[in-house]
Amino acid sequence: MLLTTFLSTIPLLSLVSAEPLGVAPPRVFEKRQVELSGEMIDKVRTLAYNLNNKSWENGTLAQAIIEFDYPSFSPFNTSHTRPSTTPSLQSSVPDPIISLARVTLENRPTAQNADTLDNPFRGGRLLEDGSSADPASLGVAVLLAGESERVGGDVIGGVNFSVAAREEVEYQLYNVPRTSEGAISHRAAEAQLWADFMYMVPPFLAYYGFDTANQTLLQIAYDQCRLYRDALQDKDTKLWRHIVGGEGNGISDSGLWATGNGWATAGMLRVAATIRRSEFSGDMQDQVNDLAGWVGEIVDAAKSRVTSSGLVRNYIDDQSSFPDTAGSTMLAYSAFRLSTMGFTNDHTGFANQVHSTVVGRHLADNGTLTDAVDPLVWDRLGTAGSPEGQSFVLLMQAAYNEYRTAGGSDDTEGKDESGGVALGVKGTWVALVAVGVALVGAWAA
Ligand SMILES: *[C@@H]1O[C@H](CO)[C@@H](O)[C@H](O)[C@H]1NC(C)=O
Ligand SMILES: *[C@@H]1O[C@H](CO)[C@@H](O)[C@H](O)[C@H]1NC(C)=O
Ligand SMILES: *[C@@H]1O[C@H](CO)[C@@H](O)[C@H](O)[C@H]1NC(C)=O
Ligand SMILES: *[C@@H]1O[C@H](CO)[C@@H](O)[C@H](O)[C@H]1NC(C)=O
Ligand SMILES: *[C@@H]1O[C@H](CO)[C@@H](O)[C@H](O)[C@H]1NC(C)=O
Ligand SMILES: *[C@@H]1O[C@H](CO)[C@@H](O)[C@H](O)[C@H]1NC(C)=O
Repeated sequence: MLLTTFLSTIPLLSLVSAEPLGVAPPRVFEKRQVELSGEMIDKVRTLAYNLNNKSWENGTLAQAIIEFDYPSFSPFNTSHTRPSTTPSLQSSVPDPIISLARVTLENRPTAQNADTLDNPFRGGRLLEDGSSADPASLGVAVLLAGESERVGGDVIGGVNFSVAAREEVEYQLYNVPRTSEGAISHRAAEAQLWADFMYMVPPFLAYYGFDTANQTLLQIAYDQCRLYRDALQDKDTKLWRHIVGGEGNGISDSGLWATGNGWATAGMLRVAATIRRSEFSGDMQDQVNDLAGWVGEIVDAAKSRVTSSGLVRNYIDDQSSFPDTAGSTMLAYSAFRLSTMGFTNDHTGFANQVHSTVVGRHLADNGTLTDAVDPLVWDRLGTAGSPEGQSFVLLMQAAYNEYRTAGGSDDTEGKDESGGVALGVKGTWVALVAVGVALVGAWAA
């Protein structure tokens, strides 16, 4: 912010801002509404609670509530420290997070307790599910409940929250099938990789590693992102396929699904943010930069395929596919976070474009995100509202608010920032280079 103020005092900059940098001409979009009222946010949140039911929906809601309502518990917050060593966090674990963790333990299969408690930490899953990955999306909520001064000691279905979280980590590491390369499956029955995995498992393994100061787990979280990119990335477009491998149960989808790409980018950003909060961030800068680069390549590919609707298609590269608000929202979230984390402002025009489109046109009066893909039937529009879509809106708005607080513009015409807004070291360098270019440009003129 200081830098932005500084830049705005240099009159030359406005003369030569974006143009000399050789940025492709922005698509022309009309200006749109960008304000989302507190009343509307409340409706979006209420519906998220009312619609949520599946394991990953509850896990995504927990993360949305953390980032929107309780950011001091979010690894995106630069002052966030390990809950296990932070009494102020232990004394204030939010009730909605505890509720989601509690219902998870109430639904947790108890048959496995005989194994796990006699022979602890060989793996026990949080919930019964055909997907080995989806229940892990609740891992962070369960871990936080375990750190809570108030309920951490509660025993539900024979285990407390900390044991359940630890068992889920071990389950991922030792019980779930893997590919020959070592990628942990998204499915329990056979090795099959889904882009969705990226939001469910690596962020939890990373957060568990952060909270217990275990670098091995942070590295495993990064390695899983790398292995998934190797397997799912379409080399031509750089977008990720939805599902690869496996054959047993007839599920397949090799399409470049928008929501799958959104799960991947948002998940990798959570891993990057968590590594940064850890005591190993100095050692792991290369990993963080890789993750940011992998997010950037997806967002870059997606934004070049935005339609005149202001959104990307449900299958991003398929001209016959409908524009989808849910996947677009997660990709916009990721583009705002690339900026607030100080990686790049290259995609903020895209982020603002999607944000204003969703806020201005795709929220019904009752708070429903409209025109969102059916989360269970991936090639058609949903009709009953998207539980995960409701959480995506909260996530995007949390990232948008932080971006605006950091001085980001709300340009809805698809123009990216020219530098100076991204926080942190990289953003500073981008801004300094922009100033350099500006000064040279002014001098040459
Ligand atoms: C929630 O999920 C449970 C078990 O998966 C199911 O029995 C129930 O019908 C679902 N409720 C709603 C409202 O979808
Ligand atoms: C998700 O949370 C809702 C309550 O918000 C609960 O009814 C449902 O059973 C939970 N789903 C799972 C799979 O635990
Ligand atoms: C980050 O957390 C601190 C408390 O730990 C809080 O005061 C601050 O508002 C949070 N920052 C953001 C951007 O939410
Ligand atoms: C949770 O249970 C484990 C195993 O019984 C125990 O070692 C641990 O102290 C418990 N945690 C809390 C906070 O009570
Ligand atoms: C880190 O976690 C892994 C996996 O659970 C475990 O095998 C290892 O012992 C842990 N390391 C430390 C230092 O706790
Ligand atoms: C909210 O409004 C939309 C659009 O009018 C409608 O389709 C949906 O059924 C409503 N949802 C609820 C929960 O009332």
